[in-house]
Amino acid sequence: MNKSSIPAGQKVALSLLLDDHRKAKKLFKAFEDAKDDSEKESIAREVCMELTVHTQLEEELFYPALRKADEVFADMLDEAEVEHASAKDLIAQVEGMHPGDDLYDAKVTVLGEYVSHHVEEEEEEMFTKVVSKKVDLKELGEQMKARKEELMQAAMAT
Ligand SMILES: [Fe+2]
Repeated sequence: MNKSSIPAGQKVALSLLLDDHRKAKKLFKAFEDAKDDSEKESIAREVCMELTVHTQLEEELFYPALRKADEVFADMLDEAEVEHASAKDLIAQVEGMHPGDDLYDAKVTVLGEYVSHHVEEEEEEMFTKVVSKKVDLKELGEQMKARKEELMQAAMAT
């Protein structure tokens, strides 16, 4: 999805999620290109933190708002919830590991594949429906922005 095609009332909320998606994809690409273990580890830690905040933001604010807005989202949101659970499980595993451990690279790579799938489904199906159904996200966008800042600060403090 292209940011310029997002209507004004949905811009803040959807742009925030699109930016998160772009950032995660960039980090996975950087992981692939990483030269050594310490670089790998710092990229993996950052991507795990970003994804934890992203999934929490979607689960706390974005998904409930869509569920309330229209029943057309119900199946998509159920699937997203299941996918988030698998992603969170993998994130927890990666966070407990170090480069050089068995399956470390494989786990980060598979997490990247989950994320690609997540991005595609959200941007191609969910967000386009949000636009076509004209879901009002004006207030939610501001809430999401504020909550994201809070979660990032908390994550960086640990
Ligand atoms: Fe997302």
